Amino acid sequence: MFEKIKLWRKKKSSSNLRERIEMIKKREIPAHVAVIMDGNGRWARKRNLPRIAGHKEGMMVVRKISRIAGELGIKTLTLYAFSTENWKRPKTEVDFLMKLPQDYLNDYLPELIEENVQVRMMGSKQNLPKHTLNALEKAIQETKNNNGLILNFALNYGSRTEIIEAVKHIIRDSRDGKIGEDGLNEEIFSQYLMSNNLPDPDLLIRTSGEIRLSNFMLWQLAYTEFWFTDVLWPDFNEQFFLDAIEEFQKRQRRFGGV
Ligand code: FPP
Repeated sequence: MFEKIKLWRKKKSSSNLRERIEMIKKREIPAHVAVIMDGNGRWARKRNLPRIAGHKEGMMVVRKISRIAGELGIKTLTLYAFSTENWKRPKTEVDFLMKLPQDYLNDYLPELIEENVQVRMMGSKQNLPKHTLNALEKAIQETKNNNGLILNFALNYGSRTEIIEAVKHIIRDSRDGKIGEDGLNEEIFSQYLMSNNLPDPDLLIRTSGEIRLSNFMLWQLAYTEFWFTDVLWPDFNEQFFLDAIEEFQKRQRRFGGV
């Protein structure tokens, strides 16, 4: 009897989700959603678990959210998985975080291929362990012709470094005569960033109640709509994601105009 009720509840909540998705799809869908996945450590602490248990749980949420993003027709989902500052964490935690892309792609690359997802990475390849890089490069290679959701992992990413590197590149190109002062504008500058070929995010989500950018896409977020929630990333789910999209659909974007 109890099992039957559980099954009925599950069916009901999945049909509620479907209905909600259909309603949302009738309105404007953000083309690019970026997420700062925060709160894994606190989620684990609340349960007396090691921090890495929070990261493991957080990895499962990545699957849920990328699937629903694809269903909604979002073109790009950028996930902040490891910042250039995260190297300061204890070695065991860093090692664990560096294994997550590999674990995730081992389990889900076939599913990502089937769902027409294109995997990308944004961040410095320097200092990444070989096993992390190999797993990502394999996924990038095997999904490069897919034209569904772009699942963009920001890994070993830091926005200030990204901007400095862009400026250095522009100086080199200027010395080589490839670009002059007059030729530089916002659009061209954007092409020197690691997010080149991607539009700026329309919506930024940050979980866990922290209200800051933590060196994430500082240039690209200039006109992005922000949505913050107290929910910790491992507790985040499809319904919360839809809350964010619905809120985005209510906002009036003026890009400095009236
Ligand atoms: C911040 O929470 C989270 C991270 C630094 C890691 C985020 C990584 C994942 C969610 C998994 C990524 C999955 C793949 C497939 C790459 P925190 O540890 O700072 O939490 P706290 O603020 O509560 O301590």
